[in-house]
Amino acid sequence: MCGIVGVVGNKNATDILMQGLEKLEYRGYDSAGIYVVNGQKTNLVKSVGRIADLRTKLGIDIAGTAGIGHTRWATHGKPSEINAHPHQSETARFTLVHNGVIENFAEIKSDYLAGHNLKGQTDTEITVHLIGKFAEEDGLSVLEAFRKALSIIEGSYAFALMDAKDADTIYVAKNKSPLLIGLGDGYNMVCSDAMAMIRETSEYMEIHDKELVIVKADSVQVQDYAGNAIERGSYTAELDLSDIGKGTYPYYMLKEIDEQPTVMRKLISAYTDDAGKITVDADIIKAVQDADRIYIIAAGTSYHAGFASKDFLEQLTDTPVELGIASEWGYNQPLLSQKPLFIFISQSGETADSRQVLVRANKMGIPSLTVTNVPGSTLSREANYTMLLHAGPEIAVASTKAYTAQIATLAVLAKAVGDANGNSKAADFDLVHELSIVAQSIEASLSEKDMIEAKVADLLATSRNAFYIGRGTDYYVAMEASLKLKEISYIQCEGFAAGELKHGTISLIEDGVPVIALISNNKTLAAHTRGNIQEVAARGASVLTVVDEATAREEDDIKVRTVHPYLSSIAMVVPTQLVAYYATLQRGLDVDKPRNLAKSVTVE
Ligand code: AGP
Ligand code: GLU
Repeated sequence: MCGIVGVVGNKNATDILMQGLEKLEYRGYDSAGIYVVNGQKTNLVKSVGRIADLRTKLGIDIAGTAGIGHTRWATHGKPSEINAHPHQSETARFTLVHNGVIENFAEIKSDYLAGHNLKGQTDTEITVHLIGKFAEEDGLSVLEAFRKALSIIEGSYAFALMDAKDADTIYVAKNKSPLLIGLGDGYNMVCSDAMAMIRETSEYMEIHDKELVIVKADSVQVQDYAGNAIERGSYTAELDLSDIGKGTYPYYMLKEIDEQPTVMRKLISAYTDDAGKITVDADIIKAVQDADRIYIIAAGTSYHAGFASKDFLEQLTDTPVELGIASEWGYNQPLLSQKPLFIFISQSGETADSRQVLVRANKMGIPSLTVTNVPGSTLSREANYTMLLHAGPEIAVASTKAYTAQIATLAVLAKAVGDANGNSKAADFDLVHELSIVAQSIEASLSEKDMIEAKVADLLATSRNAFYIGRGTDYYVAMEASLKLKEISYIQCEGFAAGELKHGTISLIEDGVPVIALISNNKTLAAHTRGNIQEVAARGASVLTVVDEATAREEDDIKVRTVHPYLSSIAMVVPTQLVAYYATLQRGLDVDKPRNLAKSVTVE
């Protein structure tokens, strides 16, 4: 969601900003802009739509030694050129980009900005006017004005601020929203995501909440809001430029779906020791052993991965598992057990809703583990422990390989804890072997792409709504499959517990409504789901069945190679990812960048 890039030093700022913004496109945005300074000359260019639209508006002579750029995901005021960032103060001396939400923007406007000429509706414009007022009307220095504004502002923000009178400095501050410093030779950068800067550097410096950073070409000074200097080292980010290319694929989503067998194998090697035994950090195992209950907190697809992992976590660790939707738990946390452990599942590691729960857990002294794809992300840094997904960057907004990697990583945790506890089911569960069977099952499903594409064309070509149904873990996959279909194809879709349909929702079934039934290897549940299929078919539904080979009948539509029941969600979800992909493609929509959505959701 929304992104910031800034650079100062011996580089062509315009190039760096534009390339950085292109790398941030995957996060989701509706407009973009850059501000570039070259000596006395300044340029501000903004555009609604894609970065390509912004590029067409740049004059040939736009170059500079410093600048800031932004992709906006509108929260206050519609997406328009006026509301696009960067925003400027009353006299245009100060220029600001912002990610996040200023909660007290209306009070700031009425308390401080009477008579100011605000052009748009954003909370950001109010902020830069406030800084400008303190500096120009009240005579404070830039730093004093910025600090004073920060002491008034409430909410989430990552800011990059420039002063036209000092083109050699970018002022930065953050609270809740992600922001990093990138360190170069003769130049320094600021970015909301290391991905935007990996072409330029692999050296990064963290910024913590409520820190102000003064970035110049050859120095980076970190301070607290009182002005006290903070010493901070740098770290090297393990990102590979080739990982973020699309290669020959038309869309990242398809590439990422295809990468899943490799990710399974990478996970095996990341979590096995030299003897081929599953291994997890002893402190993490102990944290689970010490807990009387595990609480999994996550959003969207990651939340669904939590459901898909609940059963094996309980069976193998002998610890009850509860699930919490992050946006609810930030403020409506239920009564907890005596010795809780919080597990945060997050592809990006930046989801603001999850972070809100983590901040609260840290205040309460509750131990926490983050399962994430992004090392050094906020949720990773702020939790006690981290387990990485080793899935490589996931660029498409629709999460695919992260979901399957999340389940596999939690299976690693469950197996390691079960082994440490002498759990007999863990002893019987050869995870390394079972994950390699999962990889083969995924490969088999991927080789059926043409068949799946044809079935999708028959079933979903013109439908406005659809259902996924299943029981047990298939129900959890149905939830994920339906989210995937609706988020990118805009077909309204519900994932339903197959047996629950008849308690009300079946009234929506009429001629031609697509119902996709998921059945994996549990005989009793399979018989019941088959009964539910009959019920919807009798009312005119067009049914497609996705069934694992051990349970399948000849007439079933898509057959999935059977895997261990603990891991069946991983195998069963793959055809549904392809269903979503092809349904979207057939509708002529942008698979990777669905409307209104962002990859990394950094507002609550
Ligand atoms: C997945 O397809 C979605 N775009 C979305 O639900 C996502 O899973 C959710 O926003 C959570 O993100 P996270 O895993 O980065 O925390
Ligand atoms: N709240 C700001 C706006 O609506 C920033 C949004 C963003 O983070 O992109 O402009």
